[in-house]
Amino acid sequence: MKTILDLISQHVRALGAYVPGKPIRQAERESGISMLKLASNENPLGPSPLAVEAMRAAAAEVNLYPDNDATELRRQLAARHNLQPEQIFVADGSNALLDIICRTLAGPGLNCVSSQKSFISYPLFTCAAFGEYIAVPARNDAYDLNAIAAAINENTRVVFLANPNNPTGSMFDAHATETFLRKIPGHVLVVMDEAYYEFGQYFATLRGVTYSRSLDYVRAGRPNVVVLRTFSKIYGLAGIRLGYACGHPELLQYFARLRTAFSISATSEAAGLGAIRDEEHVRKTLANNAIGAAWLLERFAELGLHTISPNTNFVYFETDENADFLAKRMQAEGIIVRSLVPWGIPNGIRVTIGTPEQNERFFEALKRTMRQSVAL
Ligand SMILES: Cc1ncc(COP(=O)(O)O)c(C=O)c1O
Repeated sequence: MKTILDLISQHVRALGAYVPGKPIRQAERESGISMLKLASNENPLGPSPLAVEAMRAAAAEVNLYPDNDATELRRQLAARHNLQPEQIFVADGSNALLDIICRTLAGPGLNCVSSQKSFISYPLFTCAAFGEYIAVPARNDAYDLNAIAAAINENTRVVFLANPNNPTGSMFDAHATETFLRKIPGHVLVVMDEAYYEFGQYFATLRGVTYSRSLDYVRAGRPNVVVLRTFSKIYGLAGIRLGYACGHPELLQYFARLRTAFSISATSEAAGLGAIRDEEHVRKTLANNAIGAAWLLERFAELGLHTISPNTNFVYFETDENADFLAKRMQAEGIIVRSLVPWGIPNGIRVTIGTPEQNERFFEALKRTMRQSVAL
């Protein structure tokens, strides 16, 4: 007799699972030593202290259901971005937003387009929503916007642009975005995924480049542009799950129908409100990141490894061997890095920029690990 397990559809069976950075405790159990996790682009300085304070205060009232629309957070974000609250939609992380976007717009016979060497959630959510995923070849480890525009057809509903990109850390500027958008037909939603916005802005300013004017398109009422931001990176709040989309009010109302009721907890909304006030934490995070990025790039150059100058809080590099093998030996040395094998990059590794001490610990382990690879 068939059991419920035999009745799982082919569609679900064929879906790939998201492979997250290995949790510290699991890695410690496996390796028997204390671990440093540099695999998920978390904030090495910890959460925003003002966010922690706000969560403590909110904890006293968690017997009550939260505000389903995160009204106060939307109001304050709108004021900061010079938008209307109706142009902001809050969810439990950018991943949840990507899922909702795919369920709103993708479906059988429809496709979503992005780049190879880009964020692994794009194909996962597209396929979960029964859509076809088109990965356009990357150019010099970055988005090829002309090729992406050319790949769009009448069945395309979404284009995902991670800018800066995860995992390569590459970026395109506001001018390139404008040129791209002029080619995009109205039946395609352009998702500007700016999870690393503050880092991108920082590095672009150093180079004298205008990074992003994404919110201008939202302010102008353009219905086929949506901008995603997250609290997981700059604010150090990956554990509470909070992100938001800026877009056309009517589109956001459809998104709201697909959001799980009460998925933004009261403590998450409070944390978000605390974090956006915490300018000092943002400043310290950016300063630490800039020092770490420069230091790591020099060290990678000494080893002759291929890297890309990052616009993010992580560095992408390539090894001569399979990245899973190197990541495994790094774990034996007490460091968790992200092998990009599941992302379709067999020799790619991504490492989060840590504090100066963490970066040194990573680099010493990497040198030892690479020597082992030569000896093997
Ligand atoms: C490009 C990109 N988009 C979205 C996300 C998801 O962020 P969140 O923690 O808000 O789900 C990430 C996380 O790493 C990311 O790199």
